[in-house]
Amino acid sequence: MRLDPFSEPYSRDPAATWRRMLATSAPVSYDPKLGMWLIAGHDNVRDVLSDTIQFSNAMTLVPITQVSALAGAILAALDAPAVAVTADPPQHLRTRAILRALFPTTTLRAQQQWGALIQVRVDHLVTDLEQQSTADLMVFAVHLPLYVILDVLGLPLTDAAVVRAWTDDFAQLLWGNPTPQAQIAYAHSSVALWRYCVDAVTARADSGDYGSGLIGDLLRYRHNHDANLTVAEIAALALNLVGAGWETTAGALGHALDHALTEPERWARLADDEHSLSLHIEEALRHSPAIDGWLRHTTTDVTLDGVTIPAGSRCLVLIGAANHDPAVYDEPYAFDPLRVRAGQHLAFGAGPHYCIGAALARLELTTALRTLARRLPDLTLAAGYQRQFTPSAALRQHTALPVQQRPARCPVARYSS
Ligand code: HEM
Repeated sequence: MRLDPFSEPYSRDPAATWRRMLATSAPVSYDPKLGMWLIAGHDNVRDVLSDTIQFSNAMTLVPITQVSALAGAILAALDAPAVAVTADPPQHLRTRAILRALFPTTTLRAQQQWGALIQVRVDHLVTDLEQQSTADLMVFAVHLPLYVILDVLGLPLTDAAVVRAWTDDFAQLLWGNPTPQAQIAYAHSSVALWRYCVDAVTARADSGDYGSGLIGDLLRYRHNHDANLTVAEIAALALNLVGAGWETTAGALGHALDHALTEPERWARLADDEHSLSLHIEEALRHSPAIDGWLRHTTTDVTLDGVTIPAGSRCLVLIGAANHDPAVYDEPYAFDPLRVRAGQHLAFGAGPHYCIGAALARLELTTALRTLARRLPDLTLAAGYQRQFTPSAALRQHTALPVQQRPARCPVARYSS
């Protein structure tokens, strides 16, 4: 089976490839061009993501395409210790347990800790949108989770632009297909992002003024003892969270908004029907997962679905294909905003690495969609809009989401009428 994650057809419609894979009954196959094993099928994907012994996370943040020697030499400075998403047991369990103790992972605790803050951020961004008759909603979708993750970590919003640029480059280096020239620039950005995390943590550790946010909480947990947590481990957790916290949620917000704006009745329902809002979000996560491919490598020969994957193989675990498995979902390619079993999706992973930020992401999605639908009821997708996603083997994010307001709601039109 072949999959070209960087091709124009895959970037436009990845589901067409998943459909082919699932229909050919070859849910586990080797792609010689990618040099990776492709894993599809709901149960296979769930089993692989849950198995931290035979499927390692240690290479999750190693670029999937071969980087040049020069880019590799630059990247050597990114010497973050393995924590959370890049760690295997027992280090994974240790660092995840610390995160879980300090980071709200239930809907209620997330709402209590961040509900008001997220509402303020959403309100400001929607006020900006109200002044425009046309806009790119991806600007909103990016800024909201970017500001929120900086708030959560206790980092200044004035750093948003550089953090965004570095993270984008890091993601392209890891899961894109950059030219050798671009690899060098992206490697520098990745190291700059790592140094930024190290400096932010070290400055607070050295001064003893730990400050607010999760970085402060981790330093207080550390209590000046490396046996609890080292400064480098805290910086690595910050790197994990900055990367995982906003790119994914921006992608998910773009998908949920796109599906919501496709039909005016859907948009209207989201304004005042909380049940529909929550079903819509779960179906958007299922139908269009923001991470639709994820990485593992085998620590031993593993037989999966009757196929033996040799030890040391890299695997592209197709979460998107799992979420479209007809064995689990009726009419999986249709977006059904009232689908009741959508919540079985694997958009946040499964098992020991299950997403720490799922409750936060759902809170951001809910607050954003509800507020936008209430305050901009006449928002529509721009005429002639063509859906396009950034080429990536892992992250599915719209390149743009152009929208317009019908004239009655546009302040300029209202003024002149
Ligand atoms: C819609 C948005 C999001 C999606 C689709 C998503 C998806 C995922 C997935 C698929 C995994 C599993 C990785 C694996 O199995 O190796 C994961 C893990 C993780 N996510 Fe998320 N995520 C989202 C939002 C967030 C947010 C907002 C945060 C933090 C603020 C976050 C932090 C993490 C962390 C730290 C892990 C690693 C957990 C571990 O390895 O134990 N994510 N996420």
